[in-house]
Amino acid sequence: MEPVDPHLFVIFGATGDLTRRKLIPSIFRVMTEDGAAAAHNLLGVSRSDGSDDEFRQFTNEALHTAGYDGSLVEEWCRERVFYHQTERGTTDLDSLRDRIEAIEADLGLSGNRIFYLALPPVAFSSVIDQLGRAGLATGPGWTRLVVEKPFGHDLATAHQLNDQIHAHFDEHQVYRIDHYLGKETVQNLLAFRFANLLFESAWNRDRVEAIEITVAEHLGTEGRAGYYDHAGVIRDMVQNHITQLISLISMEAPNAFEADEIRNQKVDVLESIAPIKAEDVVYGQYEAGVIDGEAVPAYADDPEVAAGSNTATFVAMRLGIANWRWEGVPIFVRTGKRLPRKTTQIAVVFRRPPVCIFHGVKDECSSHQNVVIITLQPNEGFEVRFDVKAPGSPLTLVSQPLHFDYDEAFARLPDAYQTLILDVMEGDQTLFVRSDEVENSWALYTPLLEMDLPALPYPAGTWGPAAVDERLGLKNGWVMRDV
Ligand code: BG6
Repeated sequence: MEPVDPHLFVIFGATGDLTRRKLIPSIFRVMTEDGAAAAHNLLGVSRSDGSDDEFRQFTNEALHTAGYDGSLVEEWCRERVFYHQTERGTTDLDSLRDRIEAIEADLGLSGNRIFYLALPPVAFSSVIDQLGRAGLATGPGWTRLVVEKPFGHDLATAHQLNDQIHAHFDEHQVYRIDHYLGKETVQNLLAFRFANLLFESAWNRDRVEAIEITVAEHLGTEGRAGYYDHAGVIRDMVQNHITQLISLISMEAPNAFEADEIRNQKVDVLESIAPIKAEDVVYGQYEAGVIDGEAVPAYADDPEVAAGSNTATFVAMRLGIANWRWEGVPIFVRTGKRLPRKTTQIAVVFRRPPVCIFHGVKDECSSHQNVVIITLQPNEGFEVRFDVKAPGSPLTLVSQPLHFDYDEAFARLPDAYQTLILDVMEGDQTLFVRSDEVENSWALYTPLLEMDLPALPYPAGTWGPAAVDERLGLKNGWVMRDV
């Protein structure tokens, strides 16, 4: 790995959970892998009281929890980690600019800066504005702005936030995070499709009958119900992560593996998704139930959930892409909290042969459909299902799987945040969401959110409301790898 340019990594929200759990360990891991400690300098910024020493202690503990100890940790924290407290109610970041310049002068840095907004979304626009006013949107070296999700609450707010960013920053400086794009298996969707003609030549309406995407979580809202009750499943999972999966599985081949080539194709396919109709959507909200033998309470019983809340913790829906490749192929999506287990899978279900020559009981065709199942997490891998003749007679067809498992072929998969942070340091925007991409996604879901459809109850530990399969026209249920 090439060492990255020496820079100052400025985190707003320095003492938050994301910084502690993900950002600090990822920065440290990149540093140990590229071996250039002097390139990696961290400045934590927050409104909380604090000193360099206290933030060094915080950083040290975050690294200890992530499994890092020893002299390199001690040395890095002592020499390369700093803290700056912004004054409460301040309207400018001049003091931050002075502090950055002082640190850069002390360490002999040339002025490359990353500003990472690990903040609640309400704070994004004012910090971006203050960075611009303090002259920090450009600097002596390169300047990059990283914005966490959620990016906007609907189309209007996403558009407004883009405008605020563009008032100070150029789009090539902006890195909108969707941590799904940092997952190896999600990136591999492009390799799987565009490096293997075997599959790509059949990846279209002539050969594919349906695509199913399942993003299931067994956890509930885990102390985040206050946020979740205002967000709901469309904002929390669908507008961002699942829409990324839809565009990567359905986009056309880019001309090159480059940020804008890939993002152009993603935007193209997003623009082709047909408006979502109310009858193609089933929302759910979990009631009390049992998961892994343990009783779990209802969503509505969380004290942070508003009384009578209609917030959906589950959605199943049917989408269609109105373009030459996909017209008429339904894309079934389902995601939810408190489902039986955690799994993210995409199943591409192929059509049956045009004429069936293998008949079974009652003259029904006895062959099964070919399916490609891509398991994105956990037990990452692929499965291709195909029919073989069972030995003996009468002639019977059985479906058999061909497997590929990541952990059999490769060592540890890197953490998504490590991948994304390295890309920011290297200036590679491929795995970040462009302004038109995020707005196109909101344009698709905002009308649906405005319909305010009711959420049907489902017991925790089940696959959502009982009405789903019938309402969406899934005659034979969902195809899924039983992991
Ligand atoms: C986050 C959502 O963006 O993604 C959470 O806010 C969700 O509600 C999480 O649990 C899922 O991410 P992962 O990587 O565990 O699939």
